[in-house]
Amino acid sequence: MILLPLMAVAIEFAGNNTCRPCHAAIVQSYETTPMARSTGPAGDSEIPAGRFQHRASGKQYTITRDGTVRIRGGGQPATQRFDYRIGSGAAGYSYIIARDGFLFQAPITWYRHAQRWDAAPGYQDDPIMAWDRPIEPSCLMCHASQVVPVFGTQNRYIDPPFRQNGVACERCHGPGSDHAAGHGKMIVPSRLDAERRDDVCRQCHLLSESRIPRAGHVFSEYRAGLRLGDYVAYIVRDEPGSEPALRATSHLEKMNASRCKIASGDKLWCGTCHDVHTVPADPVAWYRTKCEGCHTAETCGRRRGNNCIACHMPKAKAVDAGHGVFTDHSIPRRPRATAPSLPTSWRLKPFGPADAGDRELGLAYLEAYSRTRDERQKAEALRLLRQRP
Ligand code: HEC
Ligand code: HEC
Ligand code: HEC
Ligand code: HEC
Ligand code: HEC
Ligand code: HEC
Ligand code: HEC
Repeated sequence: MILLPLMAVAIEFAGNNTCRPCHAAIVQSYETTPMARSTGPAGDSEIPAGRFQHRASGKQYTITRDGTVRIRGGGQPATQRFDYRIGSGAAGYSYIIARDGFLFQAPITWYRHAQRWDAAPGYQDDPIMAWDRPIEPSCLMCHASQVVPVFGTQNRYIDPPFRQNGVACERCHGPGSDHAAGHGKMIVPSRLDAERRDDVCRQCHLLSESRIPRAGHVFSEYRAGLRLGDYVAYIVRDEPGSEPALRATSHLEKMNASRCKIASGDKLWCGTCHDVHTVPADPVAWYRTKCEGCHTAETCGRRRGNNCIACHMPKAKAVDAGHGVFTDHSIPRRPRATAPSLPTSWRLKPFGPADAGDRELGLAYLEAYSRTRDERQKAEALRLLRQRP
């Protein structure tokens, strides 16, 4: 669990509206992107009406447009009401309910690709389907901005729990109150050195097994332009010899496994193909132009057509996202029908050299053990934590 010092969050960040008068075009364009719209009050995006039967629990759900959920079967009929939304709808909508300032996850999700309601990821085989899984700050830190948790609790927040919907400008450009007042430069990620540049996206686009704050630090201290590994160590599954599985949030690991990245090094990064302030109107043409920054259509042997991404960046079901469908960023040579399955290794490792540390790896093993009860992970945690001076 990661707790944030309230004051530090509230003072330095100005919020997107502060940027509007001087950067009107960028603000307006950015507001239409999934990142900007990744969280909000439940009712600010259309809530799809629907109903479904959940086999494992025997419960039947009826969802109406005002965010009311009627639940029948498996006990007394009950009613819940969504308070906040997570997800722009690009892959789907998940919801949060608030009880006395404590936030909990709704066990049901709407999936865009399948166009239907079903159990949320992680609840498919849940026989209870309780509305009691806490929404911890670490979850909101990736989907909302200026999150204001109550210190010393697991999932209680000031009302409203975040002051800025979605991913704020300042998550990538650094706090802007000085700049908005006429002094102070903003960070421009593409002008940072490769490590700090990539860290800006990595803070949210690498879900990893565990994100362990360094001793004496908290996640929210990290700002664009700093070295992420000095604040938080990202620990991933050690899967020697096997390609990382396609997960909902594995873009970075997959991109790093691509020939394009291995052969181009720091020249290729997320920003080579994505302009985060806009949604491409014609994705086929947009991404082809990006490929052609390094390839020509002739490199493809013979001309196979203009839709480079249809063959080389196919979409597939992720192993951890229910019915969610995601783009394979490993840019495979030949289209692949199925994504690799979930890894079986119990071993963990730091994502990169900046994430190394016995304390952090040890704590990540302990966190994994609390979920899996795998004794090998416990033994490894104790070994790493005990050998510290
Ligand atoms: C009062 C007007 C004003 C406000 C408010 C303002 N900016 Fe700027 N911004 C500017 C001007 C003028 C420039 C170009 C000169 C410079 O680089 O400082 C600029 C440049 C930038 C740059 C590019 C910096 C560079 O070095 O090229 C970024 C990024 C930026 N602003 C982000 C923001 C964000 C984010 C906000 C809101 C938190 C914001 N600005 C609010 C006026 C403003
Ligand atoms: C490390 C950052 C991180 C954490 C922690 C995280 N997410 Fe996400 N989540 C993302 C990113 C990045 C995406 C976009 C991935 C994509 O589109 O491939 C995403 C996608 C989603 C989507 C689909 C979004 C859409 O518009 O379709 C939902 C729903 C979601 N997350 C819910 C949650 C919930 C609920 C939690 C906490 C219990 C959570 N996430 C924790 C980073 C995170
Ligand atoms: C997800 C990260 C991210 C978010 C959020 C984001 N930006 Fe940017 N911004 C970037 C990157 C990366 C660049 C550099 C683009 C490049 O060099 O190709 C950039 C460039 C800029 C520039 C310089 C433009 C130029 O062409 O030199 C301004 C101004 C700016 N952003 C303002 C904003 C404002 C205002 C918001 C919020 C409405 C915002 N950005 C949200 C990542 C982000
Ligand atoms: C504060 C967390 C955060 C940061 C920082 C961040 N992202 Fe995201 N990003 C998300 C989340 C969450 C989503 C899923 C939005 C949704 O659909 O709900 C997302 C979605 C996206 C998407 C899907 C489409 C779209 O237009 O939103 C792209 C592309 C993307 N991010 C690229 C980037 C790049 C490139 C950077 C770094 C310059 C970056 N992101 C930084 C959290 C973040
Ligand atoms: C070589 C080009 C390329 C690079 C580099 C790249 N992307 Fe993408 N990305 C794509 C394409 C193509 C899509 C699919 C777009 C579409 O279907 O409209 C995509 C889609 C996405 C999405 C939407 C969800 C999904 O999985 O379909 C997210 C989020 C995203 N990229 C994040 C990232 C991040 C983070 C990085 C850096 C680690 C990155 N991308 C690097 C080409 C790229
Ligand atoms: C920054 C430059 C860069 C960009 C942008 C880029 N690539 Fe590459 N790509 C490379 C390099 C370099 C190689 C390795 C060539 C070699 O090994 O001879 C490569 C290899 C490949 C391969 C062969 C993969 C294999 O496993 O053999 C394919 C397919 C490919 N790229 C497709 C694409 C597509 C499609 C896009 C756009 C979505 C793209 N690339 C964007 C630089 C890039
Ligand atoms: C209809 C599917 C399809 C389309 C569309 C397509 N490719 Fe390919 N591409 C392939 C296949 C299949 C191969 C592997 C050929 C082989 O292994 O001999 C390939 C190979 C490649 C390679 C590796 C060439 C080498 O000799 O190492 C690159 C680079 C590449 N494609 C880039 C592109 C780019 C850029 C585009 C868009 C202009 C594109 N491809 C469009 C199917 C496609």
